[in-house]
Amino acid sequence: MKRIKIVNLLKNPVDSLIGTTITIKGWVRTRRDSKNVVFIAVNDGSIIHSIQVVADTSSFEEALLKEITTGCSLRVTGNLTESPAQGQPVEIQAKEIEIYGKAPSDSYPLQKKGHTLEFLREIAHLRPRTNTFGAIFRIRHAMAFAVHQYFNDHGFYYLHTPIITGSDAEGAGAMFRVSTLDAINPPLTPEGKVDYTQDFFGKETNLTVSGQLEGELGALALGEIYTFGPTFRAENSNTPRHLAEFWMIEPEMAFYDIIDNMDLAEDFLKSLVSYALKHCSDDLEFLQKMYDKELIARLEGVINNPFVRLPYTKAVEILLNSGRDFEFPVFWGADLQSEHERYLVEQHFNCPVILTDYPKEIKAFYMKQNADGKTVRAMDVLFPRIGEIIGGSQREEDYDLLVKRIHELEIPEKDVWWYLETRKFGSVPHSGFGLGFERLILFVSGMSNIRDVIPFPRTPNNAEF
Ligand code: 4AD
Ligand code: MG
Repeated sequence: MKRIKIVNLLKNPVDSLIGTTITIKGWVRTRRDSKNVVFIAVNDGSIIHSIQVVADTSSFEEALLKEITTGCSLRVTGNLTESPAQGQPVEIQAKEIEIYGKAPSDSYPLQKKGHTLEFLREIAHLRPRTNTFGAIFRIRHAMAFAVHQYFNDHGFYYLHTPIITGSDAEGAGAMFRVSTLDAINPPLTPEGKVDYTQDFFGKETNLTVSGQLEGELGALALGEIYTFGPTFRAENSNTPRHLAEFWMIEPEMAFYDIIDNMDLAEDFLKSLVSYALKHCSDDLEFLQKMYDKELIARLEGVINNPFVRLPYTKAVEILLNSGRDFEFPVFWGADLQSEHERYLVEQHFNCPVILTDYPKEIKAFYMKQNADGKTVRAMDVLFPRIGEIIGGSQREEDYDLLVKRIHELEIPEKDVWWYLETRKFGSVPHSGFGLGFERLILFVSGMSNIRDVIPFPRTPNNAEF
């Protein structure tokens, strides 16, 4: 008999199925015994809720019933009936139960409810089977889908940029080397350095920190493109907001100036949050109940208010006048820390903030230089609880200014010659930004640690699963 997913029994109208025999398959969440019946809550991952299976002890062998424990997997065929119990529309009166895989209660690690998130990180191979991680990964899926839908609806093309890169120009962080050379006895140059001309690609290569530079090449031909792929940063920053491997969405648009770029970023974020509220309500309600009482109100707040747009220089003034004793000092030219970003968003403005026109010294070489000679047309979008969720800018399209900046920063021209050629031939004003996918999921799910919104987090000393 064909399996019916539990979402189709608990979420969608099933009147026509009531009184008929159906089959479900899934994992046992809990088992409760009363006098002549066993109540089994079964979850199949299709929805946060489990369905109640009622098994008459007289209809099943005792040996079989004994093996039905938390975590075991089974098939149940039975009669779908309206449930007398509160909070569930239907239940299943079991006629047949087949156990696929046992989960002995003396060794299965997910026995009780309420394990700490720290403990669950240590069993990342099993944590998808908890209600919490089921909810988070369904939301993650929905957000990835919404990203593609948004861009497709707006005429953007999905461009696949390389994961292995020969350029180290972005300067976004330390990189992971990709090499097939013998790590213990690498070939050496006469000067005693590793001879990468003998490596797989004939040069030094790394995992990419961003798809932007290649994304720009696409935008300068196709108009509007976006990338959505994994990016890698070997920084040793052990914080609740940094991963060594994270996913980034990077739209890049020809003929957009910084204002167009901000308008797009704001509309994009609002659209993603609306999508979550519309399509993930069960999971959001669960996470709100368990972890974050203000979650849904915060999501609605982002949709319903315009983002504040503020130059960096003004933000520094506000921080200096705040009377706050920040851990990291504030001065014009300082790279703002998460505590400063969160003060602006959560205390001062109480809504998302887009900061623009940062000092050029703390931003990447490709950002468009302002006439003041000191600042660049950067934009960072700051969110409540998260801090920076998006980083972007208008790009420098002027060949001479860009080359001058590259020389100032001592970036070898031979590494970026191909990028510079886009400014030699048919250059146009253009802009783009990068949204950290896990930071988005952190915000939408209300979780507090980025390790809990990606199935298999990569952080310093952590690549087990
Ligand atoms: O600000 P970032 O470094 O910008 C870029 O990489 C640009 N190339 C983007 C562009 O203009 N196309 O990173 C962009 C976003 C950040 O705002 C943050 O949300 C996220 O990526 N991010 C991280 N997320 C998790 N772990 C890390 N280590 C992250 N570093 C950046
Ligand atoms: Mg940034």
